[in-house]
Amino acid sequence: IKNIAVLTSGGDAPGMNAAIRAVVRAGIYNGLNVFGVKRGYDGLVSGDMYAMDVKSVANIIQRGGTILKTARSDEFRTIEGRQKAYENVKAAGIDALVVIGGDGTFTGASKFLEEFDIPIIGLPGTIDNDLAGTDFTIGYDTAINTVIQAVDKIRDTAESHDRLFVIEVMGRDSGLIALRSGISTGAEAVLIPEFNVDYDAIMKRLDKTRKSKSSRIIIVAEGDSEGGMVVSERIKANFPKYDVRLSILGHIQRGGSPTCMDRVLASRLGVAAVEALLEGRKGEMAGLVHGEVQFISFKKAIKHIDSINQDLLRIVEILSL
Ligand code: F6P
Repeated sequence: IKNIAVLTSGGDAPGMNAAIRAVVRAGIYNGLNVFGVKRGYDGLVSGDMYAMDVKSVANIIQRGGTILKTARSDEFRTIEGRQKAYENVKAAGIDALVVIGGDGTFTGASKFLEEFDIPIIGLPGTIDNDLAGTDFTIGYDTAINTVIQAVDKIRDTAESHDRLFVIEVMGRDSGLIALRSGISTGAEAVLIPEFNVDYDAIMKRLDKTRKSKSSRIIIVAEGDSEGGMVVSERIKANFPKYDVRLSILGHIQRGGSPTCMDRVLASRLGVAAVEALLEGRKGEMAGLVHGEVQFISFKKAIKHIDSINQDLLRIVEILSL
């Protein structure tokens, strides 16, 4: 391997820049030429890539977003798109790829590798934390810290007005942002897509805590079967006297300067990705499990189902007395 390329794909996540920096610098450290691909797989399909050097990744470790830009590429989902991408990769003399993203990114990588036998290593870059084979994904820690800052602020106003807030957080198929941010903000209930909502139990809990609490926070994951809007309507219908408000946090969760956790995670995994390619590995995502770098096949990484720690949900219930 002499030339490698790096790209970010899917939703951006804080720490992606730290990961790009680590791949570029570890590549150069190991005598490789490193190319950056713009806008994820779209840039492979259109041949939009450029040679990167030590300076191209200077002063980015602390920046949110991704300097390479990102996209969810429709063209790369077609065989014609992937064929074009392969021709561009060959024409540029690229021997291997590092792709940073989530399940959609690895689904694409898996197909590309099977069809054209290009060595690819993945890095988990998504705020959702919905990948197997890593305890945390790059961006998750920053996102949950953004959420808890926002919810703490909402709690102040909720408390002043004796209000109940339903707060919808991101997580298209996953309740992991909701669950941890719910525990950290002392939420009265957390609704996530992985488990059916027991509305009776939630309403009972709300009723029970009516006198002991003046503010109440219900965190709803975006991927919950009903979503924040319906949940707040249900609560209003059940308790017409409650002053209920809905707040959808949205894309603020995806921005901002990455936390120390995310910067270190991205740096370790970026180096691991380059070393893995040099060792001849391919078709795997690098992750961190119990503090150690581990590799898992793309196909296994995207099957995150059941990764919810039920104990966390139990803790919400016990502590929301
Ligand atoms: O995958 C990360 C994520 O932030 C999800 O939680 C969310 O559903 C989705 O991206 C939103 O994507 P977009 O910015 O394309 O609307």
